[in-house]
Amino acid sequence: MSSLLDVYPRLPLKLVSARGCWLKTDAGRSLLDLYGGHAVSPLGHAHPELHGALIAAHDTVDFYSNSVHMPIQERAASAALADSQHLSWAHFVNSGTEANEAALHLARRFTSRTCVVSFDCSFHGRSLGSLAVTGIEGYRKRLSVETPPNWRRGIRFGNRADLERIDDSVAAVICESIPSIAGVLMPPEGWYPALAARCREVGALLIFDEVQGGVGRCGRWFAHQLFGVEPDLVTLAKGLGGGFPVGAVLGNPELARWIGHGELGTTFGGGPMACAMICAVSNIIQREQLIERNRCTFQRIHGALSPLPGVSVRGAGALIGLETPLPASELRQRLLSRSVVVGSSGQPNTVRLLPPYVLSEEELELGISAIIDALGEPS
Ligand SMILES: Cc1ncc(COP(=O)(O)O)c(C=O)c1O
Repeated sequence: MSSLLDVYPRLPLKLVSARGCWLKTDAGRSLLDLYGGHAVSPLGHAHPELHGALIAAHDTVDFYSNSVHMPIQERAASAALADSQHLSWAHFVNSGTEANEAALHLARRFTSRTCVVSFDCSFHGRSLGSLAVTGIEGYRKRLSVETPPNWRRGIRFGNRADLERIDDSVAAVICESIPSIAGVLMPPEGWYPALAARCREVGALLIFDEVQGGVGRCGRWFAHQLFGVEPDLVTLAKGLGGGFPVGAVLGNPELARWIGHGELGTTFGGGPMACAMICAVSNIIQREQLIERNRCTFQRIHGALSPLPGVSVRGAGALIGLETPLPASELRQRLLSRSVVVGSSGQPNTVRLLPPYVLSEEELELGISAIIDALGEPS
């Protein structure tokens, strides 16, 4: 009998340790982690520099509230903003859903409008606001309260005709940069610039939810940089703290001029240990050119697997959807028996590969061979 509330369908594995791209079970098995703890671990597990950064931060100021200035927060904000030319500030929270809540709140307050537009295939989190704008019906149905009809308007991902549905009653359009749980969908050419132009036309803010796609995962620090648009607000989480829970909302200078004291706030957000992790993660990613490595990882996986019959490889960098003729549950099971962990998706024949950026060439080849072998296994 477990004392935990049973809300997660779990793999039949008891994890006892994790190092680099490898997981170890209580039965002594080592498994290659191509799932990255659900797109969370850019530097793999137990990275020694992250360990050092965390201990040093703990021994300097373990925690203090946002009632004082802390230089580490300034450094973390610069790290999160990276080379952005149009985003100028960061506000730290603790998770992806909370970052989206903050962005939605700001957009509604800034525009004095209520309605938020999102893709029908999007996921934005499980707190009430994020869930209310999540497009995937199955998640939204779990809302405990019916949201008013003017809270959300859905549009089809990539459908130009639906841009007409974005009018001057819309506070913001929130985009999951590369809809991931929906099966890792790439937008048609020109989709995001057309969407951004429509937002400008009607005075709606553009929010990019990069909780999963940001922090270099897609082969650029920000996923929106792949698509040539400049969102007003961007949310980050997952990879940002290298496994330490943290989220951030980033925005443009016009919004900063308008936001006042008390508009947003959280006790733990921007804690010194979280900020030290953000700085360390960003340093290592830049120093070791891991964003470039993610681009190579995608090229190699695409090159090796997309020629296989009935296989399609979608995505960018280390955010990869692999659609095959096999049901995803069957392929995951076959890979597990070959000691490789991959993720599921909402698409019945698509598994997701969300590996740590530090995946070595040897580990990548091992993963590819296992996938080819698993796909070739007689049913
Ligand atoms: C695109 C996207 N947005 C938001 C979230 C919610 O983040 P969290 O689980 O940290 O609240 C997720 C989580 O998977 C996500 O993938």
